Amino acid sequence: MSRKDLEYVVIAALIASGLYVAISGLVTDLFGLHQFALHRYAGYVCAALTVLHLALNWGRVTAYLRRRFGRPREREAPAPTRRERVSLLGRRQLLVSALAAAGGFVLGRLIPGRRLAELPYEAADVGALYHQWSKPGYSQALGAVLDWGGQPERYKTYADVERIALPDPHGYQGLSLEEAVETRRSVRDYSGEPLSQEELSRLLHAAQGITEHRWGFRAAPSAGALYPVELYAVVHNVAGVEPGVYHYAVREHGLELLQAGDFRAAVTQAGLWQTFLGQANVCFVLSAIFQRTRWKYRERAYRYVLLEAGHIGQNLYLAATSMGLGACAVGAFLDDDLNDLLGLDGKDEAALYIISVGKV
Ligand SMILES: Cc1cc2nc3c(=O)[nH]c(=O)nc-3n(C[C@H](O)[C@H](O)[C@H](O)COP(=O)(O)O)c2cc1C
Repeated sequence: MSRKDLEYVVIAALIASGLYVAISGLVTDLFGLHQFALHRYAGYVCAALTVLHLALNWGRVTAYLRRRFGRPREREAPAPTRRERVSLLGRRQLLVSALAAAGGFVLGRLIPGRRLAELPYEAADVGALYHQWSKPGYSQALGAVLDWGGQPERYKTYADVERIALPDPHGYQGLSLEEAVETRRSVRDYSGEPLSQEELSRLLHAAQGITEHRWGFRAAPSAGALYPVELYAVVHNVAGVEPGVYHYAVREHGLELLQAGDFRAAVTQAGLWQTFLGQANVCFVLSAIFQRTRWKYRERAYRYVLLEAGHIGQNLYLAATSMGLGACAVGAFLDDDLNDLLGLDGKDEAALYIISVGKV
């Protein structure tokens, strides 16, 4: 292989690896892949090829630099080559750029996106359609179809409401993790004894408490650490806490009182008349502000939000079990009624899950 051939091979490999790095970088960013090895290694290859390319063309590079920045005598010395005389945006370059742009545009139009009608499910099952539609696909990765909007506030706070500080949730030694996992059951019979503030505090901390203050990381994992889930407590029977609807203020580890009152009947009715919801000491309601995840994860966002609610629900289950309390997840409820109870619009933020907790 001649030196010229080697130069062409290096240039071709450099272009290919550069393109690969760019595309895998887009995919990495889009799906929040923190350690995407294929992107990193392609980056190393690209850097190595760049060095090789420079080494092969070192003479040209130094000659150019000498002419451009050297002493006046050196600058004048060698006559510029024909290639160098061509201006940066000569006619040929302009033509190639225009053709490339037109080609990209046409290709973008021609590459078919996945249309819902092509999916192997009946349109009646929106969940199955959504699952197919939200699979990673290059046409979606490279071309934004919808406006995914910007990033909203990370924390929700209510102005001008009464705030309750909660006791320190740390230091409790309950059942071990193994025992909690082994003995956890969905419990729907409660004794009616009041829950203590300490117990309420530990439950809230296990669900959404900040466990690493430097970065604001919480007890349950969250895609991209974006934390779309908000937590509400409909308090029926907690010693020293007025019954009512509260919002969990994550940063302050406190409760914000949204409405004082007896909401046992309201939450039972919203929960399709499952009576244990009114007999529990507290009903936690998990909601989601979808845009917190949507701006970054686009069509995958809805999957992530629901998965996160599951993580938080399990934390609540295990924390309750570890403290000898009973918990039960409830997914069957009247969405509009539950959203109304919490003052949510049901669109930007909507209730996802109820977890009732009570003394047994
Ligand atoms: C997503 C989800 C929704 C649920 N919805 C309800 C519900 O509406 N009412 C209820 O009594 N239990 C509900 N459960 C609790 C299940 O019935 C319970 O987990 C199941 O019977 C297994 O029992 P175990 O939790 O004791 O292992 C739900 C559980 C999950 C995970």
